[in-house]
Amino acid sequence: MSMQLNGQVAIVTGAGRGIGRGCAEALATAGAKVIAVARSEADLAEVAAHESGRIEVWVDDVTGDDVLRKIEAVENLSILVNNAGGNRPQAFVDVDVDSLDFVIDLNVRAAFRVAQAAARAMLASGSKGSIVHMSSQMGHVGSPNRTVYCMTKHAIEGLTKAMAVELAPNGIRVNAVAPTFIETPLTKPMLDDPEFRDFVFGMIPMGKLGSIDDVVAAVMYLVSPGSGMVTGHSLKVDGGWTAQ
Ligand SMILES: NC(=O)c1ccc[n+]([C@@H]2O[C@H](COP(=O)([O-])OP(=O)(O)OC[C@H]3O[C@@H](n4cnc5c(N)ncnc54)[C@H](OP(=O)(O)O)[C@@H]3O)[C@@H](O)[C@H]2O)c1
Repeated sequence: MSMQLNGQVAIVTGAGRGIGRGCAEALATAGAKVIAVARSEADLAEVAAHESGRIEVWVDDVTGDDVLRKIEAVENLSILVNNAGGNRPQAFVDVDVDSLDFVIDLNVRAAFRVAQAAARAMLASGSKGSIVHMSSQMGHVGSPNRTVYCMTKHAIEGLTKAMAVELAPNGIRVNAVAPTFIETPLTKPMLDDPEFRDFVFGMIPMGKLGSIDDVVAAVMYLVSPGSGMVTGHSLKVDGGWTAQ
């Protein structure tokens, strides 16, 4: 089954660093025209220089309104990797309202609105499409100091299923990828703490962290024709964390 995506148009949010950047580069390598969205110009300048020459960058904040208008206007959009997200780990009893609002705004409200704008663009151009939400293993289980993050990723899991059911008649598939801990700029400060690192390794039966490539491979499957009958699914890339 071909992984060639020639002629397809993709948007990847949070594509300046980490998982999103890996996805943007893999999609472009496979032949798609990619729009990479993030706020930091310096990161995006590196992404734009990708050897494929097929990555356009947008310096935009996904929590704002401007990016939504731009997404809705994209012609022949067929792929969205709805990846931008963040975390502020805190004990439940210490969660401050600013952190609560920040994580919900980015991980749920913006993810919902970006997906809505992308679905509108797909419907307007009559494209069949694949939307992949970047969830987390924390969308399936709980973990200490992660009440807000777990709540938002469980919301993404529900959004994935409901969107999948509603958009299936239009040929738009909607799935999630649910990674375990992947070493990226988001998690590096957490994993630099030896006690936390030991906890994480103790929870992963495979005995290793996931890599950006592990997550990219799952995304590439979900946007490829080989997953044409897969929708409403959450593909865990967690080394067995949630199987216990
Ligand atoms: N790393 C892990 O272990 C892990 C595990 C499970 C799930 N995930 C999920 O995977 C996704 C990506 O995580 P990551 O580890 O790759 O994160 P990361 O290294 O922090 O990268 C996040 C990217 O999103 C962009 N971004 C953040 N806020 C944004 C906003 N408001 N508007 C536009 N872009 C924004 C960042 O760029 P700017 O700051 O320049 O905008 C950056 O390019 C997240 O949804 C995360 O929850 C990560």
